Amino acid sequence: MAQQAALRTQIGIIGAGPAGLLLSHLLHLAGIASIIVETQTRQHVEARIRAGVMEQGTADLLREAGLGQRMDREGLVHHGIELRFCGQGHRIDFADLANGQGVMVYGQHEVVKDLIAARLAAGGEIVFAASKVSVEGLDSDRPSIRFTPPEGRAQEIACDFIAGCDGFHGICRLAISNGALTAFERVYPFAWLGILAEATPSAEELVYAHHARGFALLSMRSPAISRLYLQCAPTEDIAQWPDERIWDELQLRLVAGPGWHLTQGRVLQKGITPMRSFVVEPMQVGRLFLAGDSAHIVPPTGAKGMNLAIADVVMLARALEAFYKSRRTDLLEAYSATCLKRVWKAQRFSWWMTQIFHRFPGEVPFDQRRQIAELDYVATSTAAATALAENYTGLPML
Ligand code: FAD
Ligand code: DHB
Repeated sequence: MAQQAALRTQIGIIGAGPAGLLLSHLLHLAGIASIIVETQTRQHVEARIRAGVMEQGTADLLREAGLGQRMDREGLVHHGIELRFCGQGHRIDFADLANGQGVMVYGQHEVVKDLIAARLAAGGEIVFAASKVSVEGLDSDRPSIRFTPPEGRAQEIACDFIAGCDGFHGICRLAISNGALTAFERVYPFAWLGILAEATPSAEELVYAHHARGFALLSMRSPAISRLYLQCAPTEDIAQWPDERIWDELQLRLVAGPGWHLTQGRVLQKGITPMRSFVVEPMQVGRLFLAGDSAHIVPPTGAKGMNLAIADVVMLARALEAFYKSRRTDLLEAYSATCLKRVWKAQRFSWWMTQIFHRFPGEVPFDQRRQIAELDYVATSTAAATALAENYTGLPML
């Protein structure tokens, strides 16, 4: 097929999720050029409802990078969460337990909108709706990205380095030759059914509920919009869940004493998310660096996925800056090991939150009693509550 003249950039980025967009922005601040290639349209990525909770360090980083204005106006700062079990709530107070740290409740798609606006305002290049995306020459010092833009002929971008920020289902991880990566994986025997609803949140802070019928989570996006999740089977058919059934089930699982009532409203969006823990090692092969969900996935119970994606690209931007400013390669060489240390701690926390809250097929009554004992321990022991608070609000980036 005829190809147009090759484009050239320093860093070729695959994927316009939080990882790819923030990497491009941080590189721009450091005077490094990049081009992002994304398979979806701008409208699609800006409307994709996903994460909602940012660690304190993630929110601080977005502010330092000049991206905090709308987040600080519209986001909700929380200094605690509620653990609800046996029909009673127990507040974990981050202010006391995590040195005053908190979390920012602000939708991932809002972060994505802010990042796209900032990149485009600074003249950044993002190719949306690209097809036939592939990466070549990863072991050479001139790797390239091939793609076909929505209108036009196939193109090639020659790069110094490629950042694979294309999520769990992307092509970058798969482009690495067999045997170069080791994968660690656990697939959970349940999923989450999530809704976004026009309903005043029924609590001021997030509620994580343990219930005999399965886990439920009450979250929010604004004082008028609730975000709610229910544990369900991984094979669940969303068509079997009319809105009324979802509200009834949420009311049953989130109940906190007689008279407690969940505020309902119009359901704006609903979907089912499978749950897995997944890591590949190393996160770099040749001139391809994997970042975010392309390298690791956590079950959402610990609210860690987007935070990890952001921490990865902060490390990658620093390492690339050291390379271009002073030809240092040590940070690039250490990239994978540095990120993986933090990734594994977030894996451990996400697994721990998942296993204390969910019903597992084949569990025995002993397991439920043990879960309640563990939740009660966290609710009543300062040491245990501190461990939850410092992991939830975020471990140090380095
Ligand atoms: P993605 O956001 O997946 O972005 C990858 C991009 O690459 C996408 O735009 C995709 O279209 C594009 N792409 C894919 N293939 C190609 C290709 N071949 N070529 C070009 N582009 C491609 N995390 C939190 O931190 N806190 C939370 O509260 C939280 N809650 C969650 C709740 C749910 C229901 C879900 C599903 C996830 C949640 N997460 C949470 C996880 C978080 O959403 C992800 O970890 C985050 O999106 C990872 O960002 P990323 O940029 O690495 O990948
Ligand atoms: C949200 C998602 C999570 O996975 C979580 O642990 C907390 C909140 C949310 O979408 O608001």
